[in-house]
Amino acid sequence: MGGPESMNACPGVTGAGSTVMRGLFLAAAAALLSGGAAVAETSGGFMKRYDPLASMKRAEHSPADPDDAVQVAQGRLLYAEHCAACHGVALEGAVDWETPEADGSYRPPPHDDSGHTWHHSDRQLFEYVKLGGEKLFEDYPDIVSNMPGFGDVLSDDAIWDIFAFIKESWSEENLDWQRTVSQTDPLPGMAEGGADD
Ligand code: HEC
Repeated sequence: MGGPESMNACPGVTGAGSTVMRGLFLAAAAALLSGGAAVAETSGGFMKRYDPLASMKRAEHSPADPDDAVQVAQGRLLYAEHCAACHGVALEGAVDWETPEADGSYRPPPHDDSGHTWHHSDRQLFEYVKLGGEKLFEDYPDIVSNMPGFGDVLSDDAIWDIFAFIKESWSEENLDWQRTVSQTDPLPGMAEGGADD
């Protein structure tokens, strides 16, 4: 598991609603990422860019660590306070979250294995929460986002704590997937070779 073949099992590639959400993220990637490191446009593109040797040289470390009990506990509290009202107390998301509203917006998706938060790199997830959808998609007026930005409310550490809590709900397989995606789209300061530790 975790090998290149299992990458193709990404359900977001086929699910209709997920495709739209993927589109949101790709727009974000286009807007924010300069290099070609974003999750590629198609799973084929992703496969072409996936270089197991390069990934192995990179640090395994994520700033959001589901094995860190202290971080998860902090994240649980912060999630309950800032995110649960929209994304569900148990990370379950809104009913019919895959059906667009009349204005093209979407209801808050789940963050557990049933959603696709786990399809996205640490960098994309972090930026979505820190900046919010409106800022992230400001060059894409057709995208209507109701995801608020938390940059003025939550510290960077607090955002990572929340993702540690969210990740704790994911299966090993999905954790593996997300780790690999994050390695192909490194955070600033997490260069190849893991020299940032
Ligand atoms: C006011 C409701 C609301 C609150 C509060 C909220 N969100 Fe969201 N969130 C949304 C909506 C709606 C979306 C769907 C995408 C969009 O509209 O941009 C979303 C999307 C997301 C996504 C993208 C998920 C994916 O699978 O693509 C992430 C990650 C996320 N939210 C994290 C959080 C976190 C973490 C918090 C708490 C700090 C939070 N949200 C608080 C409404 C909310």
